[in-house]
Amino acid sequence: MRFDNRTTESWQQADIDHYLHPFTDYKGLAVEKARVMVRGQGCHVWDSDGNRYLDGLAGLACVHVGYARPELIDAAAAQMRELVFFNSFFKATNKPAVALAEKLVEIAPRHMRHVFYVNSGSEANDTAIRLVRHYWALEGKPEKSVVIGREFAYHGSTIASASLGGMPPMHAQAADLPGFAHIPTPYQFLTGRGLSEEAYGVLAASWLEDKIREVGPERVAAFFLECVHGAGGGKFAPRNYFAEVQRICSKYDVLLVDDEVVCGFGRTGDWFGAHTYGLRPDLLCFAKGVTSGYVPLGGVLVGDRIARTLIDKGGEFYHGFTYSGHPTTCAVALANLEVIEREGLVRRVHDDTGPYFARMLASLADHTLVGEVRSVGLLAGVELVRDRATLEPLQPEGLIGERFRDLGLRHGLITRPVGETLLLAPPLVITHAEIDFMGQALRRALDDFQGEIEHGTVPGIPH
Ligand SMILES: Cc1ncc(COP(=O)(O)O)c(C=O)c1O
Repeated sequence: MRFDNRTTESWQQADIDHYLHPFTDYKGLAVEKARVMVRGQGCHVWDSDGNRYLDGLAGLACVHVGYARPELIDAAAAQMRELVFFNSFFKATNKPAVALAEKLVEIAPRHMRHVFYVNSGSEANDTAIRLVRHYWALEGKPEKSVVIGREFAYHGSTIASASLGGMPPMHAQAADLPGFAHIPTPYQFLTGRGLSEEAYGVLAASWLEDKIREVGPERVAAFFLECVHGAGGGKFAPRNYFAEVQRICSKYDVLLVDDEVVCGFGRTGDWFGAHTYGLRPDLLCFAKGVTSGYVPLGGVLVGDRIARTLIDKGGEFYHGFTYSGHPTTCAVALANLEVIEREGLVRRVHDDTGPYFARMLASLADHTLVGEVRSVGLLAGVELVRDRATLEPLQPEGLIGERFRDLGLRHGLITRPVGETLLLAPPLVITHAEIDFMGQALRRALDDFQGEIEHGTVPGIPH
């Protein structure tokens, strides 16, 4: 293979010299150097020094069916030989795009019968923003254009999706467009202690109603939410929150958009988080797991209410991408969904591996550094604290969780710290033995971490 004839150091140097990574502090990376990843198989990946890791993050919450699946690879090769690409712009279509649309409609919430294709989760959310504003304009209410998102939400990194998201450091870097408003997200561990889950759910949903009233219902187009915050750190809403926000959206005629870029395609133990949490969204954004990350594809499932207006009123929707409905990515998505179905992965997560994963996480809850564990299906947040008895936070905030990633790697496990929360989202094909391994690696990493904190030897942290 043409990548095999160079040393790790040479790749790392060239990486520093030429490759600007996403979401990276370039000065820091130049000192620490990147891990050069070279191979994946099943739930494992290898670096260029031959170290093997269990991928507790499924790439980036996307490699649902695991690495190196011949079914997906063969589907790409076959479609590339047949018709690698053709656009869908000028009254042309292609078979994989249509067949995938049929398949997505089959697994989606029942009132969603159309799909718009894009290349990523960010573009899916951008598209959803365009769609809700276009919808209201077609309905003769163009002033209904403000979009409400939540703090801690991550909807992507285009200027519009980042403006919608709830990440202040992103807003500060020229991603803070007008026309967006934000409300706090339910985060009971921090902001709802002492309240029953139900009472907190009602309270958190009331923040949406307050914001709609403040902006004026006649100006609010839509409310966007993720069923579970992924990049925002595995934060879960109380169960009753979803029915409440749905009720509030109907009351004020505000569209509901469900960003399932992380939650979709079995991650929560159902095809979509909307099924798990009983949501009836007007639009549903997806990406990641639709192709298990083998090729980039995203999209928006469109509910009947919006689809009917688009189709009945007509007029061009001035939006789309060269690769919308790319035949090869759609063929890979079809092969991926076939694997998920054939292997019964959604049911397996729901009935078997999800509960087994939850028990593994619960077994860590006695550790001094673990403040809370929460999960649904194969998606989890582990809240790290200085001492579980007092729930005192780890200091310095945001920095120290990073150290945990390295300790996990030392024990052969890939995790993702988000502030002081660990996000875990392994491939859906993970086995009991691999979940056991995760549990052991997490406990060892927690023990090492506690030792470093007690001895004041956490690298890079002054004591
Ligand atoms: C919920 C959610 N929405 C949108 C995105 C953006 O997706 P992408 O990175 O494919 O643009 C992400 C990415 O992690 C996400 O987690």
